[in-house]
Amino acid sequence: MPAVVVIGGQWGDEGKGRVVDFHARYCSVIARYSAGTNAGHTIINNKGKFALHLVPAGIFYGDKTCVIGNGVVIDPDGLLTELSMLHERGVDTARLLISNRAHVIMPWHRVIDSADEELRGGNAIGTTGTGTGPAFHDKVARIGIRVADIVDQQRFPERLREVLDYKNRVITSLYQRPALDFDEILAEYTAFGDRLRPHVADTTSIVQEAHWRGEQILLEGAQGSLLDLDSGTYPYVTSSVPASVASGAGIGIGLGPTAIDRVVGVYKAYQTRVGNGPMPTELFDENASTLREGGGGVPGTAEYGTTTGRARRVGWFDGVLARYTSRLNGVTSVALTRLDSLTGFDSVKICVAYELDEERITTLPASLDDAQRLVPIYEELPGWSQDVSDVRNLGDLPAEARQYVRRIEQLVDAPIDMISVGPQRDQAIVTRDIFGGRL
Ligand code: IMP
Repeated sequence: MPAVVVIGGQWGDEGKGRVVDFHARYCSVIARYSAGTNAGHTIINNKGKFALHLVPAGIFYGDKTCVIGNGVVIDPDGLLTELSMLHERGVDTARLLISNRAHVIMPWHRVIDSADEELRGGNAIGTTGTGTGPAFHDKVARIGIRVADIVDQQRFPERLREVLDYKNRVITSLYQRPALDFDEILAEYTAFGDRLRPHVADTTSIVQEAHWRGEQILLEGAQGSLLDLDSGTYPYVTSSVPASVASGAGIGIGLGPTAIDRVVGVYKAYQTRVGNGPMPTELFDENASTLREGGGGVPGTAEYGTTTGRARRVGWFDGVLARYTSRLNGVTSVALTRLDSLTGFDSVKICVAYELDEERITTLPASLDDAQRLVPIYEELPGWSQDVSDVRNLGDLPAEARQYVRRIEQLVDAPIDMISVGPQRDQAIVTRDIFGGRL
């Protein structure tokens, strides 16, 4: 059975976790294929509210194989903390598998992440500080340490010595920070390897076999397409290799492109971003604080980062970027999240084009300078005041909310099959079953 990819269509934090949590019931394998601890998913279900960074959102079902694929970089300490938290809250994690080819975040990666940000000064990216970017740099530079290394007690010391000698030179001479201690890291990471070993596997073969048997596989993206290294607002992007976009999914899990036939694009009903970089529709007025604090939605579901707790930048829905990322990912189905947060505005705006140097454009310029000077051209639509959190049928939404959803659908150029109207698993309007009649 072909695989489905779930991706974020904006700058991350679109609510992919809840969409994966929703669709996971129809799949037997749920796999993460890119990014690392920098990612954050919030999931609310019958067991409570959970913030996940590395464990796939399918873990709550108990009978699913959950995979952290070769395309992910793993902070073992963070992963073990996440597993303990899940265990303490009664979630069975025995079916979690970790690719032996995945790369590992090492102590020098966090040192370099913060030192690089300091060196960038006023042009800092605003990274999550988790060491994720530098771990991907090392992967590409071919001096990374992989899960297979830390679980191999015989060979790990040799590999660590080789890489640490190199990294300590960089840390002491270029960054002028104290060298890191070999014995300390060896002991710490050997212990991590011991604890993770029961989960470590050749996940590539396991996923390929499941695909060959005809099982439904769900590939869970992290971050958003506009943070993608190739296609995002460079250099204000994340460093994931393979890409955060759908095309990276096969590489990051070990399947070919023909294995994937559906792509679910998750879009928030407005725009948010954490960290620096261009955001044409960003708001700074009272609408910004209203949206940041959860708008007309549930209080306490406000826009603060799952990983860093930073306040998210907020803005009106950007239809230009939404169409761009929909095509970039080959989106076949859209999940629109947090429609409830827009309740209570007199009017709502959607950006349909930009003005740049007195010209109207409908594409994202590659030049950072140009991207920072874009002036959004908005369509203004009437707002709605009726609470939508209990609505389960499209026809029961206020006419103004339906008009808003339809306009986004035209701009994204793909059918909106799911609309979330609250944080709980069942608070959604599902208009089409992407798994073919099983809802
Ligand atoms: P890094 O991935 O930590 O290097 O951060 C690079 C950029 O990506 C920064 O702007 C981060 O705020 C952003 N970023 C990384 N992960 C996420 C995420 O899961 N959600 C939203 N933004 C993210």
